[in-house]
Amino acid sequence: MFAAKTIDTSDKAAFYRDLAAQLKALLDGESDSIANAANTAALIFQMVPDLNWAGFYFLASDEELVLGPFQGKPACVRIAVGQGVCGTAVELGTSMLIKDVHDFPGHIACDADSRSELVVLLEDDEGVFGVLDLDSPLPGRFDKADQAGIETLAAIYAASSSFED
Ligand code: SME
Repeated sequence: MFAAKTIDTSDKAAFYRDLAAQLKALLDGESDSIANAANTAALIFQMVPDLNWAGFYFLASDEELVLGPFQGKPACVRIAVGQGVCGTAVELGTSMLIKDVHDFPGHIACDADSRSELVVLLEDDEGVFGVLDLDSPLPGRFDKADQAGIETLAAIYAASSSFED
């Protein structure tokens, strides 16, 4: 059984280093992309403070993201590339750090409680294959240290999982 360890959140760099080590241990020896996404979302939702949603959207085609494993309230299933925070991240090829979702035109509100959002890209040798999306009920919840930490977790997930059909 995997037991997530409580970690000190006062030093964000140390927090994310510890969380990255826990995620590596959790995914070690497993390459199933759905199982690993489910456990990654669960670990993040359990360990990262002040979240109301954490999960995955995967590119089903060049034009559309489809919901993957997540923790939180049920969410919108399909997001067009270029739409919302997630689709904009894919279109621009960059992480999106949104301090207040009310100030982001086109934000897709899956949970009315969400006030800030962090979306990072999932990438492998062939390019972007999806996003990891975190929502918080607190405005301004995420900063550059959270972005760097979550980008590292997304890279650990991407390296662990096989997407061969
Ligand atoms: N807010 C996202 C949609 C996904 S939910 O937050 C789970 C967006 O604007 O793309």
